[in-house]
Amino acid sequence: MIPLGAGLPAGAFRRTASVARAVRGSPERGNDRPSRALGSVPSVEDMSDPKIPTLTLHNGVRLPALGFGVFQTPPDETIAAVEEALRVGYRHIDTAAAYGNEREVGEAIRRSEVDRADLVVETKVWASDYGYDETLHAFEKASAKLGLEQLDILILHQVAANLFDRTIDAYRALERLLAEGRVRAIGVSNFPVPRLTQLIDATEVVPHLNQVELHPYFSQPELQDFHREQGILTQAWSPIGGITFYPGWGGEDRRSTLADPTIGEIAAAHGRTPAQVMLRWHLQQGRSAIPKSVTPSRIAENLAVTDFVLSDAQLAAIDALDTGTPGGPEPERDFDDRQLFPIPEA
Ligand SMILES: NC(=O)c1ccc[n+]([C@@H]2O[C@H](COP(=O)([O-])OP(=O)(O)OC[C@H]3O[C@@H](n4cnc5c(N)ncnc54)[C@H](OP(=O)(O)O)[C@@H]3O)[C@@H](O)[C@H]2O)c1
Repeated sequence: MIPLGAGLPAGAFRRTASVARAVRGSPERGNDRPSRALGSVPSVEDMSDPKIPTLTLHNGVRLPALGFGVFQTPPDETIAAVEEALRVGYRHIDTAAAYGNEREVGEAIRRSEVDRADLVVETKVWASDYGYDETLHAFEKASAKLGLEQLDILILHQVAANLFDRTIDAYRALERLLAEGRVRAIGVSNFPVPRLTQLIDATEVVPHLNQVELHPYFSQPELQDFHREQGILTQAWSPIGGITFYPGWGGEDRRSTLADPTIGEIAAAHGRTPAQVMLRWHLQQGRSAIPKSVTPSRIAENLAVTDFVLSDAQLAAIDALDTGTPGGPEPERDFDDRQLFPIPEA
């Protein structure tokens, strides 16, 4: 099965002494880490302009706040979806080795007329490729499939709880790729605060971003606070709540964010769709959002969020929908042989 990420229930996040040390800089190791650039993650005030904002990572790399995801996009539909996304104006594509469609993302990029310099391509290393040498090789595989010598953002897909040493080694490989200029930014996905803290304590470069489940029903406010303190960009997966309505996923009593009455009322007030309201909520709160669609009309709809602004009361009403319960599986899980499936060479 294609892997899903997840977050932790609210209340599972605690500030620890080592977190406080990470914020200040570790006395044992001096203040030799790259700048945490506190405050570089855009604030709500910065987001009041209706244009799609540009976000700046703590090393200065920039990306549009609205990108395009391809999880569960079958390889034979990926080229058309990404081509359409690029045609209508997306300039950030999020894929992953485990999605099995990096080659098709690369093909769509080659077919498009978008300048490489204007494009942000993000992909993820799967846990079967964790470990220092393995992750260096995973970069080579991704680079070849995408047809790109340099990747813009390379992140670790999951915490592999039973392989955490290998997870850390994998991140050290990302640091080397960053130092060599083979990637422009590095980060993680599905890392809760305790694991981020361990990672930050054990390595040199504070992750530039953490891609996590984040939609109105699971907005992870404590994790977002931690990211802000550290200068880590919060990147929302399932930004319109896809995990709350994926076909065949979740129990009988699940509720779809698309059918939420509060979101529906706000959408009606602006003459917009629920998906557009949720994306606008992300943008105004300074997050990166990467909605997925294979449907041309929705691909365009999700980008058309530049000509209305949610009020503070509307933002707060959406914040209040948080249930504290993830739609996806817990990130803190062991990986067995079945989940450690091999990522093909080509
Ligand atoms: N790091 C991780 O562990 C992780 C996990 C999950 C996702 N992600 C990333 O995040 C991206 C987005 O997350 P997601 O795919 O889970 O969920 P999502 O973007 O919130 O929702 C996608 C679903 O919504 C539908 N949709 C799209 N636009 C719509 C609209 N305007 N109105 C109604 N329905 C709409 C899509 O259907 P159609 O395609 O049929 O139009 C699809 O079923 C992924 O593609 C992937 O890049 C990462």
